[in-house]
Amino acid sequence: MIPTAQMGQLRPGEAEWLAPGHTGRPLTLWKLLLLLWTLLNCGLESSAQGPGEWTLWGSWSRCSSSCGRGLSVRSRRCIRFPREELCWGDTHEYRLCQLPDCPPGAMAFRDIQCALYNGQPVLSLQKTYQWIPFYGAPNQCDLNCLALGHAFYHSFGRVLDGTPCSPGSQGLCVGGRCLSAGCDGLMGSDAREDHCGRCGGANDSCLFVQRVFRDAGAYAGYWNVTLIPEGARHIYAAHRSRNYLALIGGDGRYVLNGKWEISPPGTYDVAGTRVVYTRATGPEETLRAAGPTTQDLLLQVLLQEPNPGIEFEFWLPRELYGPFQEQTQALSLSLRQPQPLEVEPQSSEPNKAPAFPTRTPNPTPDPCPPCPDTRGRAHRLLHYCGSDFVFRARVLGHLRQAQETRYEVRVQLVYKNRSPLQALEYVWAPGRCPCPPMSLHREYLLAAQRLVSPDGTQDRLLLPHAGYARPWSPAEDSRVRLAARHCPV
Ligand SMILES: *[C@@H]1O[C@H](CO)[C@@H](O)[C@H](O)[C@H]1NC(C)=O
Ligand SMILES: *[C@@H]1O[C@H](CO)[C@@H](O)[C@H](O)[C@H]1NC(C)=O
Repeated sequence: MIPTAQMGQLRPGEAEWLAPGHTGRPLTLWKLLLLLWTLLNCGLESSAQGPGEWTLWGSWSRCSSSCGRGLSVRSRRCIRFPREELCWGDTHEYRLCQLPDCPPGAMAFRDIQCALYNGQPVLSLQKTYQWIPFYGAPNQCDLNCLALGHAFYHSFGRVLDGTPCSPGSQGLCVGGRCLSAGCDGLMGSDAREDHCGRCGGANDSCLFVQRVFRDAGAYAGYWNVTLIPEGARHIYAAHRSRNYLALIGGDGRYVLNGKWEISPPGTYDVAGTRVVYTRATGPEETLRAAGPTTQDLLLQVLLQEPNPGIEFEFWLPRELYGPFQEQTQALSLSLRQPQPLEVEPQSSEPNKAPAFPTRTPNPTPDPCPPCPDTRGRAHRLLHYCGSDFVFRARVLGHLRQAQETRYEVRVQLVYKNRSPLQALEYVWAPGRCPCPPMSLHREYLLAAQRLVSPDGTQDRLLLPHAGYARPWSPAEDSRVRLAARHCPV
């Protein structure tokens, strides 16, 4: 073993700074230390010793440009012993620097680089040319210049670092490659803002609020859906009905669909963000805004027909979640967990629009792969005993999304439950192709887990993948009753 004190004296940095050519005492010391080090390593394997060590980064250089966007660079060096490998990582780091915009009419950086060859003999021809940038060549980080008044261009090697890849592009050329900056300002970095607005964050400084407003509404008119507090990001609201979403800004004025007047789809600037409002004849409406909002917004719905449910979501800084809960409760805004209306999808009244549009507009054949075989007593026991809920239910509707499928079910008979079940519930299953699949209007005996998100904003019944959902039959009923007696206590 190498004593750590010895290692401490052998700072590799001191060794490398003694470049060949140095003479006198330092070199002698260097040799002495090297000898000592070699002796200390006697008996150790003489294979590679792992990578060397980086020096600290030097300071950032001045910005490469005097106006507009440019690059600043810093570097470091790899310090290593003879048998050590090269350090991992880059020796240079480039950072975007943003200076005030260049004055109008200023010559662009690339134009200057081409113009340097004006009147110079190139192409070993006697003739000289005037050069202007040419953007039609394959590598945009090569200095491709067009001979003015001629039908050819010439590539003068790479452009200088910090040259925009093309006019209007976000990328800058670095070492002949077009790179753009991550949210940390570093070129080529893949750091992105998370949904909380933190650069490189993991969505953990904010909470995701995702709910369905299900109040039926006793009269036609404006109903409060939710408060969207100042600071909210990634706001989304959608519904499928002939009702209209309405939005009130922090000053109490309507931004959208106020005073019984219907606004055209489009973008609306409010609360420091841009709200994109779409309306399709489906009928379907959506609202989206990136945020963060600089004022509270109030989302309402102008009811024309029974409300089939308005889904909304946004991301809220953690510290704003408590006040949001209190405020919404005080305003008696509906914040219950998703609960379907007491309405069957196939209404007996012929003229009434179905209050629950069946959300499967795609009639093409199912591309879902076959499900694993989950028959058998062992599987039934496993799910009966391991689930929070076992019940018989009829499927009223389902909504397939990219990540999950949501079934609307009417609970017929409860065999087992950890907490009360509503007459109508949502059951969520992972993926677009849940296993086992459940068909519309059929009855199943199913076992579900209760899933509560850490922040308490989501409380769901989950049908796990390859879980238990068998078409209901009297035989299945007695098998399940039998299973109940065999659970470990
Ligand atoms: C944050 O959440 C969004 C939306 O769910 C997701 O697309 C993204 O990948 C998440 N980011 C991180 C870093 O987890
Ligand atoms: C909706 O919320 C606003 C305050 O944000 C409140 O003044 C109004 O009374 C509420 N309307 C209903 C119908 O609850």
